[in-house]
Formats: sequence, C-alpha cells, structure tokens
Amino acid sequence: MLENAIKNEQTLNNVKGYRAWLQYSKIEDKRMDEEYRSWFSAIGVAGDTSITNSAIKELSDGIESMLDVAPTVNVDSLQTASIILGTYQDIWIEDYGMSPELFGDLNNEGYVLKTTPNDNGEKKILLIGKTDKGILYATYHLLRLIQSRKPIHSLDIVDAPKNQFRMMNQWDNIDGTIERGYSGKSIFYYENDFSEDLERIKDYARLLSSTGLNAISINNVNVWDVETNLISKQYLPKVERVANIFRAYGITLFLSINYASPIALGNLDTADPLDEKVRAWWKKKVEEIYQYIPDFGGFIVKADSENRPGPFSYDRDHADGANVLAEALKPFNGILIWRCFVYNNLQDWRDRSTDRARAAYDNFKPIDGQFLDNVILQIKNGPMDFQVREPVSPLLGALKKTNQLLELQVAQEYTGQQKDVCYLIPQWKEILDFDTYAKGEGTKIKNIAGGTTYNNSNSGIAAVSNIGNDINWTGNTLAQANLYGFGRLTWNPDLTTEEITRDWIHLTFGHDPLVVENIEYILLNSWKTYENYTVPLGIGWMVNPGHHYGPNIDGYEYSAWGTYHFADRDGIGVDRTVETGTGYTSQYFPPNVEWYNSLDSCPDELLLFFHHVPYTHVLKSGETVIQHIYNTHFKGVEEVEDFIYKWDKLVGSIDNRIFENVKERLYLQLKNATDWRDKINTYFYRKSGISDNKNRTIY
Ligand code: GCU
Repeated sequence: MLENAIKNEQTLNNVKGYRAWLQYSKIEDKRMDEEYRSWFSAIGVAGDTSITNSAIKELSDGIESMLDVAPTVNVDSLQTASIILGTYQDIWIEDYGMSPELFGDLNNEGYVLKTTPNDNGEKKILLIGKTDKGILYATYHLLRLIQSRKPIHSLDIVDAPKNQFRMMNQWDNIDGTIERGYSGKSIFYYENDFSEDLERIKDYARLLSSTGLNAISINNVNVWDVETNLISKQYLPKVERVANIFRAYGITLFLSINYASPIALGNLDTADPLDEKVRAWWKKKVEEIYQYIPDFGGFIVKADSENRPGPFSYDRDHADGANVLAEALKPFNGILIWRCFVYNNLQDWRDRSTDRARAAYDNFKPIDGQFLDNVILQIKNGPMDFQVREPVSPLLGALKKTNQLLELQVAQEYTGQQKDVCYLIPQWKEILDFDTYAKGEGTKIKNIAGGTTYNNSNSGIAAVSNIGNDINWTGNTLAQANLYGFGRLTWNPDLTTEEITRDWIHLTFGHDPLVVENIEYILLNSWKTYENYTVPLGIGWMVNPGHHYGPNIDGYEYSAWGTYHFADRDGIGVDRTVETGTGYTSQYFPPNVEWYNSLDSCPDELLLFFHHVPYTHVLKSGETVIQHIYNTHFKGVEEVEDFIYKWDKLVGSIDNRIFENVKERLYLQLKNATDWRDKINTYFYRKSGISDNKNRTIY
C-alpha cells in the first residue's frame, strides 16, 4: 500500500531512503560545484559492452544529479573528452604516462583511477579497467569521491578486490516470502512467478555493484517444491532475464538447487550421486541452463541439513555429493558452492558426545582434498548460527586442500531483525582479523577467504541478504549500512570500520557534523549494546523458537531434551573442553586450543560458550558472572535510551521519512531491550538466588 502511495506521489527514485547510498545529491558549495563541473564537459568511452554502458549511464546520471550538467558522451572519440573510460587494452595508456605493466599485476576486476595531463598538457580523468568490470568499479569510486566532496584534481588510485567471490545470497521464495526477511516481500518473485518490476531488480544490482559485489544467488537455500522448477523450462527464460540485468553490473547469477532434482524433475527413482543415470541427468540439465545463460555462475546447495535431501540418504559422503554437480558444471566454468551448515538438528543435548558446534568440522575435515577444484565449501562464520557472539568456525583454515568461502549474515536474524539497530561491521572485522594459526601466526580469516593462505583457485565471502521490497530496502534505514559495509569490506577487508561507517553516512545523509557524529555513535556502539541486553558471554540463542525475535531463555526449537545452556542453580555454560567436555576446543589450531580450553585464558565474551562455571566465577573484568549479567542488561537498556536521545537531536536535519522510520524502530528496540533485561535478570536471579549488588529492581 505504502509502495503504491509513493509510486503515485513520486517515482521511487525520488525517495531518499530508496536511493540509499546512491543519493547523488546536488553539490551546494559553489566553489566545489564549479571545480567539479570543470571536469565533466565530455565523457569519452572506448568499448561497448553492457557493463561499460552501465558505467556511462551511472556516471552521466550521477553527474547530472549532483552538478546539473549533462556531459556529452562520445564513443571511441577520446580526443576532446575530459573523462575517459576504457580497458587498458582499448586506450593508449602510454599517452597518459601509464605502463601496461601496471595492469599485469592487477586482477581482472582491478582499475586505475588517475588524473593526468596528456601529451598536450590537457588534464583528464582516466578510468581504466583491466576489464570492463574494472571500468564500472572505477566509475563508482569516482562518484563516491564526489558525493563525499573529496578533491578529484590529482587522483592516482590503483585498486582491485581482495576477494574473488563477493557474493549475496537471497533467501527469497517464489511465493514472494523471504526466509528470515525483515523488509517486506521479495523483489524477485510475486505469487509463484517472477516479478515484472525489473527496474527494482536493476536498482538492486546498482546498489550491490557500487559496493563491489560480483555474484548473487537469487533463491532460498531451502529449495521447496516450486523453486525446484527454477532450473526447468518453465522458469529459465525468466531467470535469464534477471541474469541479464545483473550481468550489466558485473554480477554473476547463481541458483540454489534441490539435491533431489533428478527425482523431482527427471522422474528418476534416485538422486544417488554415484548413479550413472543421475550423473547423465545433471550433465544434460546443466547444458540446458547454459543455453539460456552462457555465463551462469553455478549452483549453491544445502544438503542433509534441517531436513533437506542430500547424499547421506544414499550412504555417500558430501564429496561424492558435490562432485557430481561440479563435474557437470566444469565444461562451462561453472562453480558448485556446497554449504557446510550440516548438523543433527535432533541431537540430545544431554549426550555429551554430540555437540552441534563440532558438526561442520566433523563432517568436512575428514574429506578435505576430495572435492573437485570448481567446488567451494561455504562455511558460516561461527560453528552455530549467526549468533550475536560466537567463536570463529574452526573449519575455516582447517581445510587445506579445498576451496572455501566464508558465509556471513547481513540479515539480522539473531541480531534484532532490522527492528533493533545492530551494525555488524565491527563483528565482521573481528572475524576477518581472527588469527587461526592454521599456517602459523598471522593466518587470519581474511587471508583464508582471500585465497592466499592455501593458494585456492576459488574463494571469497558470501552473505545472506537483508533486503526486501520495503521502500528503503532494509526495513530499518540504518540497516542499509550493513549491506553497504558488507560489500566494501568484502572488496577490501583491510578497510577500517570507521572508514566504512563514515563513507556510508556521508553518502546517505550528507555532511552535517551533528548528523555524522550521532549516527556514527549509534552505529559503532550498537552491536555491543545488542549483546548487552540479550545473550550473555557467548552462550547463544535464548530467543523465541521459530521466529527468533525476543527473549526466551530456554527456547531452542530443536531442544526436545533439556536445555542447551545447562543453567541450573549453581552455574551455567557448555563445557567444550578436551578434558571434561565435548572436546570441541581441540578443533582449533594451537595456541587457540589452549587459549579456549583453559578457563584462565578463555576470553570473557566467549566464556559460557566454552566453559560451565558457577555464577560466582570471577571474570577478567573483575565482576562475577551473575553480576555481569545484571550489569550488562541494565546498561543495554540505558544505551538504547541514549540512542533515542541522540537520534531525536537529528529531527529536521535529515529526511523526515527516514527520521520517522528509525525513530519508530528505536522505540521497538527499547521495548525489546526492556523485555530482554527483565526476563534475563529475573530468570537468573531466580535460578541463582543471588541478588544484584546494586539493589536495582529485578522484576
Ligand atoms: C538458520 C536459519 C534458517 C536457515 C538456515 C541455513 O538455521 O534459521 O532459516 O535455513 O540457517 O543457513 O540454512
């Protein structure tokens, strides 16, 4: 309804929340405006691909919107142009003092963005890509500089992505719903068919591409009946249409598939990966897909997990399972992404030989090296499931002979569902900078994902998307920062949280110092605040089963037997040590094994993930566990109140619709935080019988 109202009122692109970080607002400062304008009389472009055309369109539109000038575009006539776009092979770069060797070292998506005089001494801005993708990324970079009011007169930038796959996973279902979607319905599907609103999909492609992402899977990893047909004639022409849109923005399209497709679509009586009929069926199916989409990325598969079919049904392991698909994709350079989120969801938590945290490593480490080289194993950042705090998955780095992809979740399933603000870049930075010691000191997750540790032929980072058809894409407008930050960080994991945050605020809200200061404050503190009022010391869950929002201390959907956190009147926590617990700690490389295994060295924030301790156990912070629980929960609520105070100061200084959107959500967050505080404090007060040493009221 709101969407229709706005469509009538104005086009979506006039809504600030919709434009997200591609605002391209008018440059108000006269001097700057003139300086920028002096560059943009004529754009010259060498080459004519759908990607270069996107670059030209984005540049022309952006410039016109910011500077009120419509630069002319001259194809293949570069003499008179002040802005030149092309690949290093299409432009005489030597004329501009550049050596082709510069490009020899750059990967295929790299670029040079340079201001330089040519032989006649005229100044020009050059956007030179190694391929056309680089031209597009250079274009977004230049536009970002202007939006951020940065000088462009002496640019000398050489840049290239540090991760090969920079991927978004949509969890969209074809009926239009989104698994773990908190921002409306799907932009891809509507009532069991594809959406006809291709403009919206194109604008999504622009958003993703502008942050540097280059791959997308467009349907849920849980592939239900109707979605199984996405790889059939019924839907392939429409998948092709979407692939064409993304291709023009340098983004390769993937599909999630149902492992039992040979049965469901091929009328075979088995999906056994070692069965010749199955093998032949997949080969033919893949050939058919490539007739529609010649640069189709490949498949993503969730198998043998949470009731999805997989090779275990045929007594085959996951290498057998993956390789049959990889083999079919191989002749087309296709990739098979196989998820490692495989665990026994019916485990009995009283049985200490089963530990959900161990599952990914136990399932996949023994078959390291048995996968074809176009298989990538996609591994969630933690051993559990995107909790507000969990240790880094020990499988990352443990696979020495298999390609791997780190999986993050931009959707805030367990972190406030885009009602509560929870800016995840600080969490992802911690993950990427975590030292696994897999190949000695300094083997960080970012090196493993980047493929440099083990020289992987395929690697990178993927994440579950947080967008839907809400006007502002992400429900809470501040959640756009997570999407933006994911792209930037995945392009370059060495960017600092502060750089990314500032960039996002400037691009989205402009340059008013109070706006920048207050939004930065809220974002940078929000993860810690969320943790404060929710789950203490890394124990995880405690959310309502099913939808996962709000507190439910014993709530765990699969826990038919006992609680997973083992809280009783004396203590709390899961013993995962080698000596007395599940032995999970042994999956880490030394010295991390000892670090987590020993109560003395285990970091406070993960204490209850690794150890069972009495409530009176004294943390490194000097507080007891129980007092820490009380203190953080009171503090968390106060911090949300502070966010509201800071946000209220921005009334009138930012777009009113965005102001109201975030304000409404901050009040929901306050309600949620209060509920968490009261339920957690009461529960542990009753369990432990120990009072708050500050005598605050516990309900
Ligand atoms: C979580 C999530 C599910 C999802 C699953 C996955 O368990 O709650 O909705 O399907 O992760 O990653 O496959």
